[in-house]
Amino acid sequence: MAKYVLQQYKGRLNSRVKISGCKNAALPIMCAATLSTETSTISDIPDLIDVNIMKDILVHLGANIQYDKASKTMTIGYGGNGSFEAPYDMVDKLRASVLSMGVLLATKGMAKVASPGGCPIGARPIDLHLKGFAAMGAEIQQGHGYVMAMASRGLHGATIYLDFPSVGATENIMLAAVTARGETIIDNAANEPEIVDLASFLSSMGADISGAGTDKIRIQGVNKLHAADHTIMPDRIETESFMAIAAILGGRLEIVNAIPEHVKPVTAKLREMGCVVTEEEGCIVVETPENVNLKSVDIKTLPHPGFPTDMQAPFTSLLCKTAGTGIITETVFENRFLHVQELKRMGANIKIDGRTAYIEGGLPLTGTKVKAMDLRAGMAMILAGLFADGQTEIDNIYHIERGYEDLPEKLRSMGVEIARID
Ligand code: UD1
Repeated sequence: MAKYVLQQYKGRLNSRVKISGCKNAALPIMCAATLSTETSTISDIPDLIDVNIMKDILVHLGANIQYDKASKTMTIGYGGNGSFEAPYDMVDKLRASVLSMGVLLATKGMAKVASPGGCPIGARPIDLHLKGFAAMGAEIQQGHGYVMAMASRGLHGATIYLDFPSVGATENIMLAAVTARGETIIDNAANEPEIVDLASFLSSMGADISGAGTDKIRIQGVNKLHAADHTIMPDRIETESFMAIAAILGGRLEIVNAIPEHVKPVTAKLREMGCVVTEEEGCIVVETPENVNLKSVDIKTLPHPGFPTDMQAPFTSLLCKTAGTGIITETVFENRFLHVQELKRMGANIKIDGRTAYIEGGLPLTGTKVKAMDLRAGMAMILAGLFADGQTEIDNIYHIERGYEDLPEKLRSMGVEIARID
């Protein structure tokens, strides 16, 4: 099993990094492209494990896909036929494969998808996705580890209120609704930038969508979609991860191909800690002056535009370094503190009470063998390893490589000593 071996960073940063296309936008947009038999061209698709699994799933379901990894360009459309079933071994590898359900219902009137089950960061049910499909006329059956949805007479529009602004449920319902009969309204919809990117691609395919980026999305069903060209938005979580890396290392980091508007909650927290964050068109510069000691802050994760749950683990590592006690409350997922046990092995003093972590900052951490418990917990280990004394070995890097493109290369270009060992 591959691992990263990371050395404590001793210099002061003065570097530049380019952000990749956004994984969490690429996955639903790949699904959207298979709503048409014409071939769409999508640029800036990151070469990541999750993207390649989604590609395999969509091919299994009948898509024609060519992915040029060098140019990060994908041509994709529905080729006809294919299965209506996303089997367990595929869904188990990639939870976002449940997004195939909306597409299957729209194109085949039938979807059989393995229940995603639990995952390390929480139960992550799909009840909100299913309630949406049921309101649109699908008959839902569950059993033997599978969810079956049937819409033999096609889907119709409906008004759907989401109990929680779930990103996945909003995307899945959008995918099903764009070619349904009549109007669909999603109330209390997720308003993450990835939803806006998906809506923008669907609109350029001929869909009639308004309100994406707010909590009410209206979709007027159309008969047919056509091909479109699209460039995936920059990855806002990768951007925020590098902003945290800049804060932990000190000095100056210029982050290009970044959208300042997407990362405002993280910018605000870094400024509160003492970093100087400058926003330019397509670029963010994070600086920590030499005489500034960053201070701890309190953080509560929330749906967008609140502080992103994906940055909770990386910020736990950052708060291990800053002076004072930091408090992080996780409200989105129920079990997202898996990185804490690993940080404690490095010498961190963190207490967990329910959904809140109390982090005593300013203690020295020491490098040791740790595990990436999930994707963002893996980034937390990178951050901790950058300032821990000596060498940190990170196992289970499969999780990290699901979501961070060329991470060792990008870190090395910034002067970090990191090796990937098979
Ligand atoms: C997406 C992102 C993930 C991010 C999360 C929250 C992708 C591929 N992943 O995940 O990186 O951390 O948004 O910003 O885009 N829930 C239900 N019932 C449902 C659906 C969700 O109870 O039917 C709950 C979940 O268990 C969780 C919360 O809602 O507690 C948020 O989940 P959701 O927004 O759906 O996250 P994902 O789309 O899975």
